[in-house]
Amino acid sequence: MTDPALGTAPGPGSGPAGGAGTETETDPEALRERALSTLVTARDRTTLLTSCVEEPDLTAQHSPLMSPLVWDLAHIGNQEELWLLRTVAGREAMRPEIDDLYDAFEHPRSERPSLPLLAPGEARAYAAEVRGRVLDVLESTAFHGTRLTEAGFAFGMIAQHEQQHDETMLITHQLRTGPQALTAPDPEPAPLFTGPSEVLVPGGPFTMGTSSEPWALDNERPAHVREVAPFWIDTTPVTNGAYQAFIEDGGYGDARWWAPEGWAHIRRHGIEAPLFWRRDGGQWLRRRFGVTEAVPPDEPVLHVSWYEADAYARWAGRRLPTEAEWEKAARHDPADGRSRRYPWGDADPSPHHANLGQRHLRPAPAGSYPAGESPLGVRQLIGDVWEWTASDFLPYPGFAAFPYKEYSEVFFGPEHKVLRGGSFAVDPVACRGTFRNWDYPIRRQIFSGFRTARSQAAA
Ligand code: AVJ
Ligand code: FE
Repeated sequence: MTDPALGTAPGPGSGPAGGAGTETETDPEALRERALSTLVTARDRTTLLTSCVEEPDLTAQHSPLMSPLVWDLAHIGNQEELWLLRTVAGREAMRPEIDDLYDAFEHPRSERPSLPLLAPGEARAYAAEVRGRVLDVLESTAFHGTRLTEAGFAFGMIAQHEQQHDETMLITHQLRTGPQALTAPDPEPAPLFTGPSEVLVPGGPFTMGTSSEPWALDNERPAHVREVAPFWIDTTPVTNGAYQAFIEDGGYGDARWWAPEGWAHIRRHGIEAPLFWRRDGGQWLRRRFGVTEAVPPDEPVLHVSWYEADAYARWAGRRLPTEAEWEKAARHDPADGRSRRYPWGDADPSPHHANLGQRHLRPAPAGSYPAGESPLGVRQLIGDVWEWTASDFLPYPGFAAFPYKEYSEVFFGPEHKVLRGGSFAVDPVACRGTFRNWDYPIRRQIFSGFRTARSQAAA
């Protein structure tokens, strides 16, 4: 499915759920199957992430930036109960006394370990009880009639919510010290990428955002036309090897490259390399899910803040792409002027397109996934590492919060920067060419990397 071009963009909820493409389901029974399978996939992931460590590791706070894993587990169940049982099906609250504990806005992450949280066994039982009832509701809910149930939106939203917390829990696992608890096969080794280092994206209008993707979240809507001047963008994300050249060139000691607040932040905190990196004699090591290893030079750099990405880009004589540039590079098809669902087309992601879904616990080498490249030849836009953009997290023209303001609206503003494309830790259900993530510019425990750009005029 592609979004309509200039002048024909329908409002949210109007137009066909799947468009003319063959890849997005429009049939309600197929969507119901998809809702079921995405909920099951999410729960399998949650179960793995909360059963691979002992109970003390579920209730401990591994970082003040993160909740205890057992909080995420019960919060997943509580949101599912709230939206699918209480809101969609009109059921009574199962345990009204716990709602406050699992309301992300009531208690900051740093406070959560001191709350009277459900113990791991209780949290598991609660989430399972909710899920059992949800499967009945899924059977009996019509996938049309209300905006919340149209095309199974609420079920898709809850599967995405659980998968977002599964990425959050994977971040907690990465921050946790101690022996390795998770393993996964490495990505296929890739030959050193020898294609062009950057590609030219032609100037002109393109359709940003979506009005037709059935499970797109509120901040991705509506589809609207943006004018983008011609620019060059890196073919692959910036690698560890390239980033190391910035470090070796004294990049962390030179205020010229840094935004003033970024410079103040790295000085105050003694930051001299990506998070989890450590110098050992002549080489850089990193800790990754409990294992210390040499930093692989050909892999996209991971665990950098927006300030670090911004400084690297300035050092390289370049800049971060804006969010609109990123999306144009990822979705615009110059042959027909339409915006694709993904860089490779409209087909849902499969393992040969992108490194998604925690199949691997690391990014794949730069230049991997030729089948996932955009029409202009840009690689790894989807998966591997979240990519920082230059842009603040702001609503699109015509934005309307749905179904709750606390998903996006309360976060709009200059304090959050947009990340695009998803990481190896993101499930395909929560990753699209239009999907928007955001965080503070100092954050780097997230699976964040970047690529750089330059305006054509600056050539
Ligand atoms: C979209 C990743 C920024 O984790 O704060 C989870 C997703 N929203 N529960 C977050 C989310 C509510 C959100 N991010
Ligand atoms: Fe949440």
